[in-house]
Amino acid sequence: MSLYWRDWPVPLHSSAEVLAELAENFQFYDDDILVNTFPKCGTTLVQEIVSCLVLGPERTRTTDLKLRSPFIDLNLPPELPVPRPIDGAKKLDRPRVLKTHLPPAFHMRHLVAPSGPRNIIVMRNPKDAIVSTYHHMTSARRDELSGVPQEFSQFWRMMLGIPGGAENTEIVVHDFFDFNLSWWSMRRHSRVLILFYEDLIVDKTAEVKRMAEFLSTPLTEALLHSVLQQTSFSAMQSNPMVNITLTDPERWRPGSNFIRRGEIGDWKRHFSAEDAELVDGIIEEKLAGSGLQFRYE
Ligand code: A3P
Repeated sequence: MSLYWRDWPVPLHSSAEVLAELAENFQFYDDDILVNTFPKCGTTLVQEIVSCLVLGPERTRTTDLKLRSPFIDLNLPPELPVPRPIDGAKKLDRPRVLKTHLPPAFHMRHLVAPSGPRNIIVMRNPKDAIVSTYHHMTSARRDELSGVPQEFSQFWRMMLGIPGGAENTEIVVHDFFDFNLSWWSMRRHSRVLILFYEDLIVDKTAEVKRMAEFLSTPLTEALLHSVLQQTSFSAMQSNPMVNITLTDPERWRPGSNFIRRGEIGDWKRHFSAEDAELVDGIIEEKLAGSGLQFRYE
């Protein structure tokens, strides 16, 4: 499998073939909604909210998330007896709610067109995003993750590509800063809405209203109530339609949970004071002049 598609590193979850199909041939529709994030930044939560708004709370409650909102850039090994998510997406009724983890470069075909899908981007502060990625990668039993450092201090260095981290190019996702800054530069695009995970935690009602407005979905009090109820942390954690550690326990280490803590500031339990200072310096340098700011507590 190629590690690059054109000049872009292929993220671990995908393949050059799937990326080429998405960037060149896949049929997007104007009523598609793409939930697009750097991994572990609130994708599932926003997929659930959008699913309730667009497909309705009942369908959301009773259908597996993977089927009603496929992860279109995910490459599944051919030996798995399930259709590729990109093929599942082709058969869905419209409007479709699709999950992706790709920077705008892969979506340019529809972003530069006069009409196309709407894109909801969810961002999260890098320190909590790293912590959540660490737990995800060290909890999943997948052969390709066997080289993931178990030591957090090594993990975050590897993820940010600084000396002292394990050198394992196989587990490159996209660069957190490239990903978020490139979407941030699209923030004034009429079909792009940028949300922050932290805002969803602090005032979910306000963010649900923003999403409904962006999607032109009428939001009744009853629908808002259902959305808030169905997407609470505890409801999602106990929902087998969403929480893959409940439905697929053999693929996860005992004690792990896909819907893990759902907090702002878990980074404080992971970074030493010295490392937190070091990473703050990196963040400041990477975001300098962009206007992109995150909330850390
Ligand atoms: P933590 O690992 O910090 O708990 P993604 O869906 O992009 O993989 O993001 C996963 C993160 O979102 C996890 O963060 C997970 O717990 C959190 N999350 C999922 N559902 C949530 C909810 N209903 N409320 C708050 N956080 C949620």
